[in-house]
Amino acid sequence: MTLIGHPLVRHHLTRLRDARTRPQEFRRILGEASALMTYEATRSLATRPVTVKTPLTAAHGAQLRREVILVPILRAGLGMLEAILKLVPDASVGFIGMKREEETLRATVYYKSLPADLRRHEIILIDPMLATGGSAVAAMDLLRERRANRARMVNLLAAPEGLRNFRAHHPGVPIFTAAIDRKLNAKGFIVPGLGDAGDRSFGL
Ligand code: PRP
Repeated sequence: MTLIGHPLVRHHLTRLRDARTRPQEFRRILGEASALMTYEATRSLATRPVTVKTPLTAAHGAQLRREVILVPILRAGLGMLEAILKLVPDASVGFIGMKREEETLRATVYYKSLPADLRRHEIILIDPMLATGGSAVAAMDLLRERRANRARMVNLLAAPEGLRNFRAHHPGVPIFTAAIDRKLNAKGFIVPGLGDAGDRSFGL
């Protein structure tokens, strides 16, 4: 797990936690935080050497070795997608729609759009919140069914319970987060958290 403690990320996260931050501003700040986190989360992407011709001579450089697929978990992951896509513009985008039942806290899949074979890809799973970890574990299970073997996850906020759960099921998948909060409450909300990231982003 990598805790991204960059001052700008902490600054943005604090604005996102603030209950007075309205959806329009929330979306913008979530995007800014996501872009900064992506810089860290993509640091270890593999590259291959390439040579290009400058107007003067040959220059040795690098290009990404594998195609990147961004996979936001709907809805809240959508709030991070555009900003991340700006930094990785050649990436493809898959989607997993998932809803946590309020009573049982179990995540159920209501939509998926993913390539059948993910063996050759670098996958970045995106969701602002890792609470019980149920959604992330189920999303990663779906990616594994498609033989994904290179994945990483970017969350804005994580609860210790969710981190433990995800690590137990998918120990090889690196997690990048801006904060590990205190706990989950009885309703499965991260405390102190920021509320429901989907509701805060989209106003419903
Ligand atoms: C929230 C959040 C995560 C999930 C985290 O989504 O955005 O996807 O819950 O909880 P977990 O770690 O306990 O599974 P929610 O199900 O409320 O859907 P939404 O994004 O449409 O609001």
